[in-house]
Amino acid sequence: MINKICCIGAGYVGGPSMAVFAYYCPDLQIKVVDINQERIEAWNSENLNNLPVYEPGLDEIITQTRNRNLFFSTSIKESIAEADMIFLSVNTPIKLKGLGAGKASDLKYIEASTRMVAENARNHTIVVEKSTLPVRTAETIKMILSASIENNNGDNNKTFSVLSNPEFLAEGTAINDLKNPDRVLIGGENDDAIEALASIYCKWIPKEKILKTNLWSSELSKLVANAFLAQRISSINSISALCEVSGADINEVSKAIGTDTRIGDKFLNAGPGFGGSCFKKDILNLVYLSSYFGLNEVSEYWNQVVLINNWQQKRISNLIIKKLFGTVSGKKICILGFSFKANTNDTRESPAISISKNLLEEGAKLLIFDPKVSGKQIINDLITKDQAYSDLSLDKSIEVCSSIEEASKNVDAIIVTTAWDQFKIINWGEISKLMRKPSWVFDLRNCLDFKEENTEGLKIWKLGVSNL
Ligand code: UDX
Ligand code: ADP
Repeated sequence: MINKICCIGAGYVGGPSMAVFAYYCPDLQIKVVDINQERIEAWNSENLNNLPVYEPGLDEIITQTRNRNLFFSTSIKESIAEADMIFLSVNTPIKLKGLGAGKASDLKYIEASTRMVAENARNHTIVVEKSTLPVRTAETIKMILSASIENNNGDNNKTFSVLSNPEFLAEGTAINDLKNPDRVLIGGENDDAIEALASIYCKWIPKEKILKTNLWSSELSKLVANAFLAQRISSINSISALCEVSGADINEVSKAIGTDTRIGDKFLNAGPGFGGSCFKKDILNLVYLSSYFGLNEVSEYWNQVVLINNWQQKRISNLIIKKLFGTVSGKKICILGFSFKANTNDTRESPAISISKNLLEEGAKLLIFDPKVSGKQIINDLITKDQAYSDLSLDKSIEVCSSIEEASKNVDAIIVTTAWDQFKIINWGEISKLMRKPSWVFDLRNCLDFKEENTEGLKIWKLGVSNL
């Protein structure tokens, strides 16, 4: 019987997931812990606009659960010691250096948090991997935990079961995805542990949606689900380039193929490439894993999905430069949207970052507006390793703006990189008056509403459509 839960990592996965657990299971006491004190303070802040994660509907759930049965704290050791079940929701970025750099996941945070669990857990504890992890990470977790049982300092009751319970929430729709998931996947070797976790989900999810597998199937399924989704995006993006030169329209093509029920209509929106913390990392994990086992063709096959994604961003940047008479040096360009998709403040792997960097390298001055991403985050994302934090803002290469109008003043071009709702209702007649002539709008998400009567004098480029 599970009474107390501890979740290590109060990020985009840990925070919303545990909030929904607390919402549906008022009898559970849930502590979400993190080493980042600033983040914990933000989770505890009175003003719900200051929560570290922006996610529609999250504020309401936090209001109902926080300090009732959901607690955010930095007391990691104590929370581990009293927990019956511990979720590992720490970050697993791509390794920057060493073996597998640029491809393999950096498991240092998983290792550190598992060591904390090994040292501080009491009695029987179920340890659940929730972060996206390379296949067979559970093996590493088990090894660290069993080593602590061998050196148990007299605590003979200490035992562990390890489960894999990958998170399939998509940012921007996380609360709905957590409330109504397509499925919940639980992988493990111990039936009692699997049942203990399944009985929590059963509080709000139909039993038939809870899939039970072995540990490795669960870990691999998460990587493969994301690889398949990303593959659809690279596929449609490759076709968007073909549409632009052939006179076809990517929206019509997407609709035509998506109505085939065998293909389905989801994840067929062409755009500036996929971003987010998972897709690239998970595919690169698959690439690394396949080549590790000598499956070079498999590895190259999946790597191509990432290469097309990079190519799409470079292709778009070059095209913008070409349209602006072959140079953007000294020109002001507006970037609308900096998060990797609408309805989140997360910028990890955002296409806006690579496109902005390409334009900065060509000497452009960028005016950037995003409804939810902070100026500090934008500057941090655009700093290269040789630059000081203040360089970019001081020399005015980058200006972070607080409205669409402010970001449009005297610019040669507006590039819409994220499909925020407020961009879909822009009055282009009014905005174009603020811009330098000739004025360009690059609609990289195919999401803007251009009306004939108010786009006079505006040159419009839409992704995947035969353009001017
Ligand atoms: C993804 C998976 O969907 C989720 O199941 C997993 O747990 C985490 O990774 P997320 O990255 O949050 O979720 O968002 P998602 O909606 O999948 O979008 C990823 C990227 O693909 C975004 O940059 C989005 O703009 C892009 N995308 C998505 C497209 O370009 N076209 C589409 O049709 C769909
Ligand atoms: P995700 O999208 O996977 O949730 P985030 O980066 O948003 O990733 O969140 C991961 C969180 O895990 C961060 O807030 C980070 O401070 C926290 N974290 C990393 N390592 C540890 C650790 N050893 N103990 C506690 N928290 C950790």
